[in-house]
Amino acid sequence: MRSKAILGAALALTVTASVHTDARAADTIDFFVVGEGIPEYLAGVAGDAAKGKKTAVARKKGNCLACHKMPIPEEQFHGEVGPDLAGVGSRMSEAELRLRIVDPKITNSESMMPSFYRIEGLNRVMKKHQGKTMLSAQEVEDVVAYLKTLKEN
Ligand code: HEC
Repeated sequence: MRSKAILGAALALTVTASVHTDARAADTIDFFVVGEGIPEYLAGVAGDAAKGKKTAVARKKGNCLACHKMPIPEEQFHGEVGPDLAGVGSRMSEAELRLRIVDPKITNSESMMPSFYRIEGLNRVMKKHQGKTMLSAQEVEDVVAYLKTLKEN
């Protein structure tokens, strides 16, 4: 009997732990689209461009190089599915860049780019990723801050 009680306690713990991991879904911040952009910081504060560059390159985070050429010569592989991101900070406003990373399908339902800050309406999501955004609100801001530094010469 005693072992049953312990097993019960262990199970209860596991359940609490998994609820806690999924809390990020409920934490997803609401944002407002104005025109073609999202004018306000998602996480309330500006991003960090140096961290954003790392997030953009990291395979398990932005993985932007899978589809884009970027002005990061130290990286060997650069994809060609999307446009070259050199100079994108001159071509697009901060609000447009933010919307692009959050969810390009808001302005273009045909977009081939992933939505990095969306949970609703996604298909074929692996179980461990269900209910989670691909990037956190702060990571989105960091990437936006980095893209803003990519100015045309
Ligand atoms: C699966 C491929 C793919 C990945 C991964 C991807 N993109 Fe894209 N991206 C595209 C495509 C394709 C377009 C062009 C049109 C579209 O939306 O389909 C695009 C367009 C863009 C644009 C607009 C550029 C312009 O000049 O109009 C920006 C900015 C951008 N991506 C940034 C990023 C960043 C930053 C990341 C990583 C966080 C990223 N993309 C990851 C495919 C991708």
